[in-house]
Amino acid sequence: MIHVLGIETSCDDSCVAVINDKYQVLSNVVSSQTEFHRRFGGIVPEVASRKHLEYLPLVLDQALRDAHLDLENIDLVAVTQGPGLLGSLLMGVCLAKTIALFKDKTFLGVNHLEGHLFAIRLEYPEIQPPFLALIVSGGHTEIIAVRDWGKYRHLGSTRDDAAGEAYDKVSKFLNLGYPGGPIIDRLSEGAQGDRFHFSAGLEDDDTLDFSFSGLKTAVVRHYSSMKEEEKKDEKLIRDLVASFQESVARVLVNKTFKALKIYGFSQIVVGGGVAANRHLRAKMKEEGEKRGVQVFFPSPSFCTDNGAMIAACGLFHWERGRKDSWEMDPDPRLPLTSIE
Ligand code: KG4
Ligand code: ZN
Repeated sequence: MIHVLGIETSCDDSCVAVINDKYQVLSNVVSSQTEFHRRFGGIVPEVASRKHLEYLPLVLDQALRDAHLDLENIDLVAVTQGPGLLGSLLMGVCLAKTIALFKDKTFLGVNHLEGHLFAIRLEYPEIQPPFLALIVSGGHTEIIAVRDWGKYRHLGSTRDDAAGEAYDKVSKFLNLGYPGGPIIDRLSEGAQGDRFHFSAGLEDDDTLDFSFSGLKTAVVRHYSSMKEEEKKDEKLIRDLVASFQESVARVLVNKTFKALKIYGFSQIVVGGGVAANRHLRAKMKEEGEKRGVQVFFPSPSFCTDNGAMIAACGLFHWERGRKDSWEMDPDPRLPLTSIE
């Protein structure tokens, strides 16, 4: 039995997981640094890389213990090469190389976005391309045609803020906390998402691109124009963020199904941190049912950053003969490329 160690440190989560060659997850440990970044209202890159250094040995140890394995039993080390924060990526790549050097293991660098695509394979091995993918996270909002595993065509992306970034910025401005996505998700439950109408940029244009910066500004402006007692009105704030969330979901659903119509896929896979959003999941499924299209989401813990998705993606490439040399370095702007 082959065992793959997956290391993910592209942002502020220190993640290590072990999977086997059937894509079964044996352990998946995520150490969130949220409490350290919360007071700054966002991620501080220097803090993130220093915390990775501190957490990674513990997270690695826990992941091996949960899997009832030690490093000798690992056959491949897969690590996020990019895109992401350089200092954070470096910590993961250094750990992968250190294990490879001292334990004489094969290692390879994985694209973080491709990792989010592979998350679905951990729980739904029956889902096979071709499918249309929507990856929505703190750094990306992308519509990708997946003709086969490893064969991608980029169809649309955000021209400014990513969807998760808009969540985080709205939450920060409204003093709701960090990270904004899960907080707004929770506050919106049972609130009136149709109380305010916010339109997103490029919503009705012909492209498959997105723009969330104007939407974020519209919500922030609305909040700024409110009277002080209104800002203390919990119901009003919940309706306001629910209306923001409704607009984000609407534009994500509309553009994804527009792409589906143009390119003719019969299944959709959604991934990335924002795919954990309950409203988006419900809206996507609802639209899918209406149009007779299957929509798949990984479980929320495999939507947000994790080592298992990186291990899965690494396993796929390794099985096709890829491995990396010591020259492999992190690349903060690593593009998603197709295999030959
Ligand atoms: O994929 P991810 O963990 O890291 C990146 O690759 O960026 O995504 C993080 C983003 C953050 O912006 C966070 O606010 C958002 O995903 N997020 C959510 C939810 N959980 C995380 N957004 C909306 N609803 C959620 N439940
Ligand atoms: Zn991510």
